[in-house]
Formats: sequence, structure tokens, C-alpha cells
Amino acid sequence: MFATKVMGHRGAAKIAPENTLASLKAAADAGLKWVEIDVSLAGGDDLVIFHDDTLDRCTSGSGLVIETSVTQLKKLDAGSWFDTQFANETVPTLVEALLYIQELGLSLNLEIKYSGEQIERIVPAVMAQIHTYWQDKSSLMISSFNEAALVMVRELDGDVRLGQLYDDIPANWSQTLKNISAFSLNCNHNHLTEEQATAIKKAGYYLFCYTANDPKLVESHWHWGMDTIITDDPSVFIDLGFAT
Ligand code: G3P
Ligand code: MG
Repeated sequence: MFATKVMGHRGAAKIAPENTLASLKAAADAGLKWVEIDVSLAGGDDLVIFHDDTLDRCTSGSGLVIETSVTQLKKLDAGSWFDTQFANETVPTLVEALLYIQELGLSLNLEIKYSGEQIERIVPAVMAQIHTYWQDKSSLMISSFNEAALVMVRELDGDVRLGQLYDDIPANWSQTLKNISAFSLNCNHNHLTEEQATAIKKAGYYLFCYTANDPKLVESHWHWGMDTIITDDPSVFIDLGFAT
């Protein structure tokens, strides 16, 4: 039974700079038990927690993340763009994030970012680090927009929970979820229809919705069968009584 109704997006992206250790701490301090973060490939095939392809929006640097080494990334300020009080934040490595999340007592929805042939580089590396540094699989799930990435995860791990991400849910969602023995379908809240939600629940999958920041919209759709929202601002929903 997956009881969590609210999960932090990129940590808690409205409260602290997304995908930083400060954002994970903010999520824990807000009372969350689950967080979603994004894992990406940096230069030299290192794994880092970062959403965008480029450094420009969320750091003091610029250029492509995949062309930047961890040594260079660690010199960048990943917090001031959000607020100067976070000037000491850096881009976390996957290992740093895995260890800190467990230290905080949080559970993790790790989203694997991808781009074409990078799947072959990123997926085995992510799974190797998870198998080394993550203790309890009951407090873990892995998600991705990329079906091939999740197929590869499933080949490497027979029982980790998998969430297939969609922006717009395609007609063949059911076959895809079956192929990967999915746990959940994680979709864009704004594009979900009641008919889709009903079918997903009928097929036995959990239904997670991102990025749900408007309580009124969530309230109007919740009875469709939504199980969990992924939000930038967990406090709003915790105050409304959503179980963490
Ligand atoms: O996992 C839900 C959500 O994070 C997917 O979209 O672009 O925010 O990573 P994005
Ligand atoms: Mg994400």
C-alpha cells in the first residue's frame, strides 16, 4: 500500500533551489516523506542531480551539463539564482543525494533524464550507484519519460518500483506499463482526463500527477482516482490535510 498523497517536486522547488541538498532539507522540514529529483549525465559520465540540459537557469555557469565535469560543476553557485541565502549550494552528485536523502529519512522517486544514446550510458550507471548506496527498496521508485530507459532498469532490477512518465498520455500506455511491470503512471496533471484516470486505476496502477501546484485544480480532479501529487509547494497541500 502506497499511502503518500503528496511528494516534493525537485525536492521542494518552491521553497528552496530545485534539485539541491537544501531543497531536500526543505522537503523534510515541510513534513514530506517522499521527494522527486532528476538525475542527469555530466561530463565524464558522472551522475548529477539536475533538470535542464544547460547550466544557465539554475547555476552561475553556462553551457551544456553533459559537457561539464563534476569538478567544474562543483565550482558553480546553484542557489543564488533562487535566493542569495542559498549561495553555498552546489549541484549534488547522485551519490551525495542518495546518502543525504537516507540521512533525512526520506523516500525517493528518482527521475532518469535522457537523450537518445545517452540511455546506455546513464541507466547502468544509475542502477550501479543505487545498488551500492541505497539501502531499502521499499522507499524507492524510478521514473522516466523514456520507455527504453525503464525497460533497461527493469532488466537490471526485477523488483524496483517503476513509474512511466507522460506529458500527454498516449493511446498505447497500457501496453507500455505492462512491458515494464510498472508500479505507476506519472502524468502531467494539466493534460489528464477523467476517462484516462479511470482506465489507469481500473488497470491497477497508481496514478501520480505532476506538477500539481493549484489546490483548487487538484481538488476538482482528485475524485478521478489520483493517488499522489508531485508538487513544488508541499506545505500548501500538507496544510490542506494531504497525508505525507
Ligand atoms: O517526475 C515528475 C516531473 O518531475 C516530470 O517533469 O520536467 O519536472 O522533470 P520534469
Ligand atoms: Mg522531474
